[in-house]
Amino acid sequence: MPDAGGGDATLRDVTSPAPTPPEQTFDWLDAEAGKRGDAGLVRQLRPRAAGDRDLDLAGNDYLGLAKDKRVAGAAAAAALKWGAGSTGSRLVTGSLELHTELEHELARFCGAQAALVFSSGFTANLGAVTALSGHESAIVTDKYIHASLIEGCRLSRADIAAVAHSDLAAITHALSTRRKERALVVTDSVFSVDGDLAPLPELAEACRAHGAALLVDDAHGFGVLGDAGQGAVHAAGLAGAPDVVTTITLSKSLGAQGGAVLGPRRVIKHLVDTARSFIFDTALAPASAAAALAALGVLRSEPELPSRVLTAAGTLAVQLKDAGFTVSLPDAAVISVHAPSPEAAVAWAARCAEQGVRVGCFRPPSVPDGISRLRLTVRADLTESDLDTAVKVISSCAPAAS
Ligand SMILES: Cc1ncc(COP(=O)(O)O)c(C=O)c1O
Repeated sequence: MPDAGGGDATLRDVTSPAPTPPEQTFDWLDAEAGKRGDAGLVRQLRPRAAGDRDLDLAGNDYLGLAKDKRVAGAAAAAALKWGAGSTGSRLVTGSLELHTELEHELARFCGAQAALVFSSGFTANLGAVTALSGHESAIVTDKYIHASLIEGCRLSRADIAAVAHSDLAAITHALSTRRKERALVVTDSVFSVDGDLAPLPELAEACRAHGAALLVDDAHGFGVLGDAGQGAVHAAGLAGAPDVVTTITLSKSLGAQGGAVLGPRRVIKHLVDTARSFIFDTALAPASAAAALAALGVLRSEPELPSRVLTAAGTLAVQLKDAGFTVSLPDAAVISVHAPSPEAAVAWAARCAEQGVRVGCFRPPSVPDGISRLRLTVRADLTESDLDTAVKVISSCAPAAS
């Protein structure tokens, strides 16, 4: 605090460091980069070439639709018809008939009353969490939820309780001891790091017992789980429930780009009026909306695609386990293989890439449990020979102590 005669000038004198030349302003970034380097946490961009023929076990194109001619062709046609961009926010000039049609079809497919399309799954999560909570709410989350949900919680100004992973008793305890009347439980359906499934029916029951709403991010369940890919919420018997809201991304199973919130009509109306990541964001590009719509059509006409994903995931996980690795048994398309350290995980993934197999490499701070791992994903179009190759390459490239 400045003394009696001090005022602002005194405060600045006391607290401001000496001015530095402008070219030194970001010197602190180099110090931070050095620390990340020492901890093995430097990230690298590896651009893919258009004709890349690597075996992809890192992407999220679970149904293999990103390059499907029906999907990519619909994107190209929509760009020519509607333009490269949507020209504005949904509430100004950006709302196209394409968006409305996609919303209608998504809601119908998933058994929800209504849907609202966002420019990404990330903005859908930000919008849903913030609009359905606020400083007069409590939010209870699983500690392992996706970063986009965490950011939503941080922006919400709600009381937050982030409890141990998959701990129903901890969720129930947090709900019953909350200080705010309104409450929202936030969870992933399939957790993005280990690929395990949240106990959705039990969570819904706990929410109902404590007057809370349930928000489920079904990014990794939609298109993979349920009778024909309607997702984990549908599979849990919660589609159309009046107190459950689902978010999805259009960028994984549908091979497109964008996100959506599905739920009761009044929730969707509330989001249109209040979700800032919807209101103040340029609407989803026409090409992406059309691609998602076409991919949904493919999924409807080929309902066997999701079960192919699950078969491939189960086969690959068992083969890797048999080869001696610490592997999660997948509930959907994501498999995690433990690595002894961040450096070992990075080197392992790089050796696989040199052998033509792309695998994901997750390490702190992207992993909530601090365990570095290879993160593998499967697709509906993987053959037995692809899976054999995957196991051979991952085994031959493994670090000594994995
Ligand atoms: C669980 C989960 N939620 C949300 C997102 C964000 O979706 P999008 O990539 O469409 O922004 C992702 C994507 O990585 C995810 O894995």
